[in-house]
Amino acid sequence: MNQSLNKLLATFNDALDHSIEKSQLHTQLEESMIYSLKAGGKRVRPLLLLATLDMLQPKSEDKGLNTAIALEMIHTYSLIHDDLPAMDDDNLRRGKPTNHKVYGEWLAILAGDALLTKAFEYISNDTTLSAETRIQLVSALSLASGHQGMVGGQTLDMQSESKAVDLSTLEQIHMHKTGALIRFAIEAATIIAHVDNDIQKQLITFANHLGIIFQIKDDLLDLFGTTEALGKQTGSDDMNDKSTYVTLLGREKAESILAQHVEEAEQILSTLSQTYNTENLDYLLKLFYQRQN
Ligand code: IPE
Ligand code: IPE
Ligand code: MG
Ligand code: MG
Ligand code: MG
Repeated sequence: MNQSLNKLLATFNDALDHSIEKSQLHTQLEESMIYSLKAGGKRVRPLLLLATLDMLQPKSEDKGLNTAIALEMIHTYSLIHDDLPAMDDDNLRRGKPTNHKVYGEWLAILAGDALLTKAFEYISNDTTLSAETRIQLVSALSLASGHQGMVGGQTLDMQSESKAVDLSTLEQIHMHKTGALIRFAIEAATIIAHVDNDIQKQLITFANHLGIIFQIKDDLLDLFGTTEALGKQTGSDDMNDKSTYVTLLGREKAESILAQHVEEAEQILSTLSQTYNTENLDYLLKLFYQRQN
């Protein structure tokens, strides 16, 4: 990673470390929230948000920090719930035992609930942004996370277990369960930087490709990656009889669709590079499809 992305990551991790304060209730809830939040993770969504904002409005990335924290909280909650026995029933996440393995199911569910809610507290209280910008962010994040976004996609994913689904359904699953939060990372930067509609449109199309790229790669890694590198158990999709690009089309075709999306995403960045310095987004795009974890 280059110096500028490293700096964004360090600032983010530092702020995240101080994001959950103890409540007066003396329960294990905060410990359980912090356990998953700090377990590691690539932080690609916050990086994408901060790097896009830095590209659109250099030196203003601090204005995206609280929204980036909110986004990572929602992503982490989605992982805690995704790992539960009622869903993917996984034991390893981010190189550590999953939340419910350590704290039990009911506390894992509640830690997820609390992270989800905390995210909106974070954006609402962000005094670096105008009230109008905060409302726009809350609205976009609600849409991305809820029944028309990530949760909707998770529902379609669960409903499609042990079923033959077609390619367009699979695309819907990926666009929603994974794409929606990745799209929000970029959309949030455009909201904070107040960019014009045309640039926003190009960036959202880029984000749509990124979302699909990320999940096709996740599906490939589940089969062909290693548990050590991934920090999560491989073969989970097979165990749950999930529909993925690889089960539907085979490895080769899945990789060729991945490459097609990468090419289209690269084209958008090349157009944007006439106006902006796209170096960091170029790097993140590569990371999305070349990653081994
Ligand atoms: C895993 O996301 C879940 C998907 C949406 C594919 P990440 O691969 O970003 O997980 P972390 O945050 O690095 O643990
Ligand atoms: C989950 O997709 C996406 C979420 C919204 C959490 P997966 O079930 O494929 O994610 P992993 O492989 O467990 O990280
Ligand atoms: Mg899942
Ligand atoms: Mg899973
Ligand atoms: Mg997966």
